Amino acid sequence: MSELRAVAVACANIAFIKFWGKRDAELNLPANSSLSMNLEGLTTVTTVEFSPAYDDDLVILDGQEVRGKTRQRIVAHLDRVRGMAGLRARARVISENSFPPGAGLASSASGFAALSLAASRAAGLALSERELSILARFGSGSACRSIPAGFTEWEAGTGSEDSFARQVAPPEHWDLRDVIAIVSRAHKRVGSTEGHALAPTSHLYPARVASVADRLAQARAALLEKDLATLGPLIEEDAISMHAVMMTSRPPIYYWLPASIRLMHQVQSWRDEGLEVYFTFDAGPNVHLICQAADQAEVERRLRDVEDVLEVMVSGPGPATQETEDPSYHRE
Ligand code: PMV
Repeated sequence: MSELRAVAVACANIAFIKFWGKRDAELNLPANSSLSMNLEGLTTVTTVEFSPAYDDDLVILDGQEVRGKTRQRIVAHLDRVRGMAGLRARARVISENSFPPGAGLASSASGFAALSLAASRAAGLALSERELSILARFGSGSACRSIPAGFTEWEAGTGSEDSFARQVAPPEHWDLRDVIAIVSRAHKRVGSTEGHALAPTSHLYPARVASVADRLAQARAALLEKDLATLGPLIEEDAISMHAVMMTSRPPIYYWLPASIRLMHQVQSWRDEGLEVYFTFDAGPNVHLICQAADQAEVERRLRDVEDVLEVMVSGPGPATQETEDPSYHRE
């Protein structure tokens, strides 16, 4: 492996308390703190190699050369790293997601977390976890939460230097599961960058922002106590609060499909029957069902009987973003 090359792997994450809306778009500072769980096995592996021989940055994602806005975002991130390292060389970035790109799972969190570590190491930088989380935040807010292992909290902070994610509990603290029900593979019409910018146009936004800190404190305490009966309703409430803001933005954004709402009802009735499971959503129609390991098989079994569900994926608490072996497909 050449000196200016590094490979990193990062997990996606699911937020229990969501980030929706920014107080500073340039610095990517959130309106509120958020809390999430890294998703084991739902990963991005990214190789970055800088070389004076390259005349331009080249980005390959899942075997396809990336162009347009996505490329620009990645090049801007490489520029940040080059700026920090005093490096001018262009880069080759090769990135592979373990989850299908059409599954509607946010790949920006794992993508920018892996890119931050691979690019900074390839550029010869040895960043601390905090510095890496700050760097990842610039790429995509939620990416900063994928840097530490397990359950992490992104503190909104007072400025760029104290707005980063820390570990709340390691992965082995609690074997929670995220059973993901894919109800649509369609590409979302409104991306999160645009969505964050619309959030302040909702009359519900100030109420959401004002209520998050309390909810987060209660959710963090319940997480530390491994108390799903307390944590679950807070997770649902926060997802509903975020989608209420989305649906009342100007123009409104409707991420839910009829199948998403049918599953929300389904989860409520399963709970009435004694199955301890709660739902949450990202900026999309797919439903994340949160339960304990002992209930995973039953949740999965029931989901597979639901006609709307195209695919089910299961994950648990995942590790930190870390350097990894050069994957074989990268070997020359
Ligand atoms: O990191 P971004 O800018 O893609 O925003 C993520 C937004 C949500 O996934 C909807 C919520 C969250 O906190 O992960």
